[in-house]
Amino acid sequence: MTDHILIERQGAVQIIRMNRPDKKNALTRAMYAKMSSALAEGDADPAVRVHVFLGVPGAFSAGNDLADFLVVATGGEGGNEVWDFLMALAKAEKPMVSGVDGIAVGIGTTLNLHCDLTFATPRTLFRTPFVDLGLVPEAGSSLLAPQILGRQGAFALLGLGEGFSAERAKAAGLIYEVVAEEALEGAVLAAASEIAAKLPQALKIARDLMRGSPEELVARIRIESEHFRERLKSDEARAALTAFMTRKKAS
Ligand code: COA
Repeated sequence: MTDHILIERQGAVQIIRMNRPDKKNALTRAMYAKMSSALAEGDADPAVRVHVFLGVPGAFSAGNDLADFLVVATGGEGGNEVWDFLMALAKAEKPMVSGVDGIAVGIGTTLNLHCDLTFATPRTLFRTPFVDLGLVPEAGSSLLAPQILGRQGAFALLGLGEGFSAERAKAAGLIYEVVAEEALEGAVLAAASEIAAKLPQALKIARDLMRGSPEELVARIRIESEHFRERLKSDEARAALTAFMTRKKAS
């Protein structure tokens, strides 16, 4: 099987790269599991000071694999991989930096709400069509997005499913910087190296103070997940997911 998540170290920087370009980096259960392990192993390794999330050119991630959602929607088993990854994100002990180019849908957007710095290219579009899929916000986004974007911005993103261009995301405080495609990974790695060079204990305390206790976040992710699992089995979600998975065959 192709390795859809590539883990690389550059000095004290651990790079977690989503690498499933033929499916625009839609995330499978195996991909979530590997990312969770990487975060846990990096957090436990004193040689790692910062985690970096990257995708492939044009696709950060198209979100959860909708075929996996459809399995649950039609009565199958979903597994714990997504939950484990969300816990790993919420509880990550070291700074996380993301570099987003192009498609950033669903968890491809909400993952960044957990990152300490996010860079994105001008062709990036952040989008969370949860409601249009009959679903609800996940990954703590119902808590984090209003904090970052305010209530109205969060409603535009999570309720209306409006796309946020990189420019709009920057103006709204969703991302740190907009950089050209060819400069993205250099900018991300430069920022990660700068973080890695900081005094680690002082940085950890500063980061923990800014993030607050993860308990509220974990509690919110739990409530969201309960709704999400229910919604996956709803007629609304089943119809929307089936429509996506069969759209090409139908046309
Ligand atoms: N799950 C499963 N497969 C997905 C996927 C997803 N989330 N997103 C894309 N793919 C697949 C497509 O089915 C297609 O597969 P195929 O070539 O075997 O038919 C391939 O990836 C390329 O996608 P395509 O739709 O042709 O690319 P595009 O550039 O025209 O559009 C998107 C990209 C992301 C806008 C579009 O694929 C899309 O809307 N995907 C669903 C996103 C989504 O709703 N995610 C879940 C959020 S909760």
